[in-house]
Amino acid sequence: MKEEIQNIPRHVAVIMDGNGRWAKRRFMPRTFGHRAGMNAMIAMARKAKAMGIEYLTVYALSTENFARPAEELEGLFDLIRRYFTKNVRDLYAEGAAVKVIGDISALPDDVQKLVCEGVANSPADAKFFVILALNYGARSEIVRAANAAISRGERVDEDAFAALLDTHGVPCPDLIIRTGGEVRLSNFLLWQAAYAELYFCDVLFPDFDETEFEKAIAEYSRRNRRFGRV
Ligand code: FPP
Repeated sequence: MKEEIQNIPRHVAVIMDGNGRWAKRRFMPRTFGHRAGMNAMIAMARKAKAMGIEYLTVYALSTENFARPAEELEGLFDLIRRYFTKNVRDLYAEGAAVKVIGDISALPDDVQKLVCEGVANSPADAKFFVILALNYGARSEIVRAANAAISRGERVDEDAFAALLDTHGVPCPDLIIRTGGEVRLSNFLLWQAAYAELYFCDVLFPDFDETEFEKAIAEYSRRNRRFGRV
C-alpha cells in the first residue's frame, strides 16, 4: 500500500542537476537537456502545488553558470524567455505566483523585462509560489545584503539581515533536494539552508518525475527535525 505522507514541507528548494549528462547520453547538445529539465521542472511545480507545498525554489541559473559557453547560456536565456511568455500564464490560471531571486541585472535586457513583468503580473492572492533562482549565488546575495545594511548605517540582527536577502518574506526551505548524484550545495541558499533537511539522489534532473519527487517528500516526512534541541 502507498505510504501516506504525514508531514508536508512548506518550502522545498531544488538543485536541478544532470541536464547536461542526460543530453550527452542521448548524443544531443546540452541545451536539449535543459529543455527536458524545464519540462521536468514544470511537472514538479504542478506536483508540489497538488501536495500542498507553498514554496518551490528552483536553481535555474547560478552566478557560476555565467562562465558557460555562449551557446549554452543563450539556450538557457531562451528557456527563461519561453517560461515567462508562456508557462507563467498557466501558473497564474492556477492561482500561483512566480518570484525571482538573484541578480537579474546581468541578464539580457529583454529577459530582465519579461522576468519583471512575470513577477509583477502574478496573482496577489497566490497560495503557491515558484521561486526561480536566476544568476543566483548565495555569496553574492549575502554580500549584497551586507552592503545594503552598511549603506543604511544600521547594525542588524538575524531577522533584520534576513529581510535584506533576496528571499525576504519567504520562509527558509524545509527541504533541499539535489538531483544528479553530486553531494554539495554549490552556493545555493547558504544562509537559508541552516536547518534545512538535505536530500540527494542520483537521478538526472530530466528523469526526476512525480514519483521521484514524492519519494523525496516521503523521506523528509520521516525525518526528525530538532533545530538543535533535544
Ligand atoms: C545543471 O545541470 C542545470 C542547469 C545549469 C540549468 C537548470 C535549468 C533548468 C532545469 C531549466 C531552466 C528553467 C528555466 C525557466 C530557465 P548541468 O547542465 O550542470 O548538468 P550536468 O552536471 O549533467 O552537466
